[in-house]
Amino acid sequence: MLKGGKIGLRARHEDDIPTLRTELYDDVVNSARAEAGPWRPISPGSKDPRLVVDDGEPGSVAFSVVELEEGALAGTAALWGIDNHHRSAHIGLGLLPAERGKGYGTDVVATLCYYGFAVRGLQRLQIETLADNHAMLRSAERNGFIREGVLRSSAWVLGEFLDEVILGLLAQDWKPNSRG
Ligand SMILES: CC(C)(COP(=O)(O)OP(=O)(O)OC[C@H]1O[C@@H](n2cnc3c(N)ncnc32)[C@H](O)[C@@H]1OP(=O)(O)O)[C@@H](O)C(=O)NCCC(=O)NCCS
Repeated sequence: MLKGGKIGLRARHEDDIPTLRTELYDDVVNSARAEAGPWRPISPGSKDPRLVVDDGEPGSVAFSVVELEEGALAGTAALWGIDNHHRSAHIGLGLLPAERGKGYGTDVVATLCYYGFAVRGLQRLQIETLADNHAMLRSAERNGFIREGVLRSSAWVLGEFLDEVILGLLAQDWKPNSRG
């Protein structure tokens, strides 16, 4: 397990799946805002890659987020779009509703940076988020990510076009253990 200050990132367990499905992916608003495509329900027993991890997939690494004190499931996190030529990857995360606003998101980003830069030797990490997702923007910026651009009206979300922000962090600018 990768340990941050408050959370850990571990492999997906079978019994994480029902909670992630009902609390994250059954939530139409959360899914529509966090994912690239339209919301669709996920059936129980589905092998949907958001829930069932393929350990042989080289382009992404998925984690379950747990809070360190009790070991309880707190959400999901991933490094995806891993490009070993350009040495870059994207970060994605989603916390269960009851676990938001406790500093876990900031800690998950920090721990994914450690995985991306120290474990995988990557040079650049990128986050895309809606321009009104202040908690995600702040979680990224607290870890040194810089706003690099705005994609105007690039996301169709529940009846309107919203802007997306791209944030990036380079290995040489990464400061492990210091967030500000
Ligand atoms: C986005 C998300 C991962 C952030 O994690 P979090 O644990 O809620 O965020 P933190 O508690 O670490 O807070 C980070 C910062 O955002 C601020 N913040 C938290 N919730 C906020 C909110 N609803 N509105 C505005 N600011 C907020 C905090 O005050 C903190 O700021 P600070 O560092 O200046 O004190 C989490 O809220 C989440 O899973 N949301 C739903 C899914 C999602 O949006 N995923 C990202 C898709 S790109």
